Amino acid sequence: HSYQYIRASTRLERVRLVELHRPAVLNALSPAVLLEICHALQAADSNPEIRCIILAGSPELKVFAAGADIKYMLTLSSEDVLNQKGMHLGTWDKIYRTLKPMVAAVQGLALGGGCELAMCCDIILATKKTRFGQPEIKLGIIPGGGGTQRFTQIMGKSRAMELVLTGDMFGAVEANNRGLVAKLYDDYEDLMKGALYLAYRISGMSPIAIANTKRSVNESFELGLTSGLKTEQAFLIQGLLNSRLGEGDDEEEDE
Ligand code: HXC
Repeated sequence: HSYQYIRASTRLERVRLVELHRPAVLNALSPAVLLEICHALQAADSNPEIRCIILAGSPELKVFAAGADIKYMLTLSSEDVLNQKGMHLGTWDKIYRTLKPMVAAVQGLALGGGCELAMCCDIILATKKTRFGQPEIKLGIIPGGGGTQRFTQIMGKSRAMELVLTGDMFGAVEANNRGLVAKLYDDYEDLMKGALYLAYRISGMSPIAIANTKRSVNESFELGLTSGLKTEQAFLIQGLLNSRLGEGDDEEEDE
């Protein structure tokens, strides 16, 4: 499949690398870009050869993404906004609901929708110089791609509130300390090597166990502890039964 704003390639046989590539506007996320990302993720999901996905900027660009496309948003009428035509909020949800594990490799800037896109992924890796932020308040709007929810869960209420109410950027070290970022790398090359190695290790695990683990971890954010523990236990029992029957290894199954 050929895309206009992203590049998708296969690495190390089982890893799908999806690179954002809209250099003229620092990878601003227009609906067209989001739809391409969504398409690439769904293609990876339905390809049994692919076990893990990396979402990254591109080598020639110094940013991950500078946020939703502000110029596009300005073309929306109030009617479009109200009936969500053109807002593509459902696309954000589809990206978040990708079944296979997603590693975000973030360099440069991840602002607004860029930070929210990274938070739709399962593991965020970044370079030491990366800066994050939810600057929407400066435009008089609110973070709309999960930035009031996922960001708060990760950063803690007080700091999240300070950051979304001021729009201030913050650095990779804090992002790492607060758990937004799993690991920091010296530069873009190291980051991509680290992301590939991590994806390679994940892609060697049982696909069913990987899919169920991802769903269980994500449910811990969605349903609260009690139902999250129930889901975890159901998947645990199911996995134990399958392994006892000698199944549950290579087959791609939904449940
Ligand atoms: C559209 C953008 C853009 C964006 C940058 N550009 N960010 N276009 N949407 N979010 C364009 C600029 O207009 C410019 O185009 C080109 O990219 C280069 O940007 P510069 O500003 O010249 O670069 P620089 O001086 O290096 O500054 C980089 C920057 C700044 C700090 C990232 O561009 C910036 O503040 N951008 C906006 C960041 C932001 O507010 N993001 C949140 C968006 S709201 P031209 O044609 O002039 O050369 C959001 C809501 C999510 O994300 C809601 C989800 C539903």
